[in-house]
Amino acid sequence: MIANLINQLDNISSEADKEISSVNSLAQLNELHTKFLGRKGLVAKLMGAMRDLQPEDKPKLGQKANEVKSLITGILEKKEAELQANEDSEKIKKDKIDVSLPGTSQKTGGIHPLTQTINEIIDIFVQLGFAVEEGREIEDEWHTFDALNIPKSHPARDVQDTFFVKSSQEIDSSDNQNVLRTHTSPVQIRVMQNSTPPLKFIAPGRVYRNETIDASHYSMFHQVEGLYVNENVTFAELKGTLLSWAHAYYGPDVDLRFRPSYFPFTEPSAEVDVTCTMCAGKGCSVCKQTGWVEILGAGMVHPNVFKSVGYDPEKVSGFAFGMGPERIAMLKHRINDIRLFYENDTRFLKQFV
Ligand code: PHE
Repeated sequence: MIANLINQLDNISSEADKEISSVNSLAQLNELHTKFLGRKGLVAKLMGAMRDLQPEDKPKLGQKANEVKSLITGILEKKEAELQANEDSEKIKKDKIDVSLPGTSQKTGGIHPLTQTINEIIDIFVQLGFAVEEGREIEDEWHTFDALNIPKSHPARDVQDTFFVKSSQEIDSSDNQNVLRTHTSPVQIRVMQNSTPPLKFIAPGRVYRNETIDASHYSMFHQVEGLYVNENVTFAELKGTLLSWAHAYYGPDVDLRFRPSYFPFTEPSAEVDVTCTMCAGKGCSVCKQTGWVEILGAGMVHPNVFKSVGYDPEKVSGFAFGMGPERIAMLKHRINDIRLFYENDTRFLKQFV
């Protein structure tokens, strides 16, 4: 009996040796510890036979069991050290920082070049004491045209130039249809209707024209409108205001040139040129050798405009202007195609970040 038990212990010992040597994780090793040496492990189970042994055989079994236990413990410990070392070096390998890898760049957002331009224009006028107003992009014909002294017969009102907005299935047959505003001047009307003079504001925003799209025309673009209404406003104040703005925006060396022009809502009216900043007024391809580039339209508010909002043209006067930020940005950055602003090509846009 005792010989058989000792034999079994030897078998357990060699089985343990075999199994432990093929293990490759600490978790598996732990399982084998339990299997062979645990409280209910193979060695412990065999010791249950102790009760049935002759007294003189008991120490023999005990001694053999201790030998086997320490043998297996030794194998387990050796294996554990081995596995632990492996795991450590794996971890070190995984955590290693490869400083030779090329950097991955983070893409940053940026403000659209046109928005930058509009913001710069606005900031200067705010410093000159102008408030900032907003109108609506879907306007009615009255605010867009009639109130601005643009008669029904005016070519600007034609469907050629104006996008009409269908109010239902059919285009409204009334004589005050909705349109996409073709300029920001209706904001003049909206603000004057809702307040009393004096008032002084700019109105930046989108405008829409039914135009054939090419390098210098787009069906949607921006304007910055300006209006100042008070008693005894003079053309000299218009000139001074615009010149102050131009010096702040372009620098002190530029000049402005006022050319007589015509707008139904201002009288007198002017188209205003700024010194070409490409050639400092000497003449180049950008200014077509004139030394000047046109950037805005302006004039003294027409009495009929005041009448349409209930202001007395005998008591108040004012000036108005409208500038094109696309054109200003194109000249400033030498951009030769207006469509670039609206194509969202990041190769273009990222040059302005
Ligand atoms: N509304 C005019 C346009 O769109 C510009 C302008 C505004 C001219 C104010 C004079 C005064 O062309």
